[in-house]
Amino acid sequence: MPRSPHWLDRGRARSVAEGVVTESARIDELVSLDGRTAIVTGGAIGIGEAIARRLAEAGAAVMIGDIDGEAAAETAARLSDGGRRVLGMEVDVADVGQVQALIAETRSRFGGVDILVNNAGIFPNQPIHAMEPADFDRVIAVNLRGIFLCTKYAAEAMVEQGRGGRIINITSIDALHPSMIGLAHYDASKHGAWGFTKTSALELAQHGIWVNAIAPGGVATPGVAAMQAGSATPEGVDPQATIEAFLASIPMGRMGDPDDIGRTALFLASDLASYFTGSQIVVDGGALLT
Ligand SMILES: NC(=O)c1ccc[n+]([C@@H]2O[C@H](COP(=O)([O-])OP(=O)(O)OC[C@H]3O[C@@H](n4cnc5c(N)ncnc54)[C@H](O)[C@@H]3O)[C@@H](O)[C@H]2O)c1
Repeated sequence: MPRSPHWLDRGRARSVAEGVVTESARIDELVSLDGRTAIVTGGAIGIGEAIARRLAEAGAAVMIGDIDGEAAAETAARLSDGGRRVLGMEVDVADVGQVQALIAETRSRFGGVDILVNNAGIFPNQPIHAMEPADFDRVIAVNLRGIFLCTKYAAEAMVEQGRGGRIINITSIDALHPSMIGLAHYDASKHGAWGFTKTSALELAQHGIWVNAIAPGGVATPGVAAMQAGSATPEGVDPQATIEAFLASIPMGRMGDPDDIGRTALFLASDLASYFTGSQIVVDGGALLT
């Protein structure tokens, strides 16, 4: 493959980028998302909720798209306190029609879509011998096809709007290195998500759309608690010992808090991240070092 694909319009990408940030911008202007609209998938609980909270706090109107519509509506109501604009909508990110409806509803309620956070993800712990083809397919459908579908339809809207955009994919340290056994389908999906991030960044730069990933380590969320409680760990493996071994390997000595990821997403969504595209920020308390 040539290093400089001929279909990229670099002049256009440069002019969009130059229009965005100036040296004289004040710090509050750089971090502000006033007037922008964000979609956060899987934003009802956990990491997605923390991301939605920070984006709304910075001034964005936020649409939470979650397969649990009731939880999405409750979280949206909670985050709307203080005049912030947050809505919830039921959507399965693996379903084309529902993703198209999410983008259309966001545009109609908020007037556009500027930021997409692909956060929805599932991580059932299943050793390969106990993993059915349908289990593998569902993890890939939510974690990888979901990112493709949301990126495709959100990017189409962003290109049509002509004011650039930001796409942030929540991958995992498992996109780089396995964290434990029982997650072969998950690791495949997250490696795929990182690859998809890089190619979409390359392709969408000409439209002023910057695409990056955040790779969290172990973060204390309802999903992780549920996995720990009911984890179908491979035979002969003690789930508690696996978790303790993972915790002991974190140089910072603690699990991540969802807001550790919320703050990083705010950084990537804001003009503080004026020269980032195709990057993956590892937010793991140093876990990958050990
Ligand atoms: N928590 C961690 O330790 C950790 C580490 C690395 C990466 N991640 C990634 O961060 C993301 C969020 O993880 P979390 O721990 O907050 O999970 P969680 O299970 O606590 O929350 C996930 C949310 O996504 C929603 N969701 C699930 N399937 C969906 C679908 N098909 N369509 C729309 N929404 C759907 C759920 O209803 C829920 O609200 C995932 O992509 C996960 O892989 C988490």
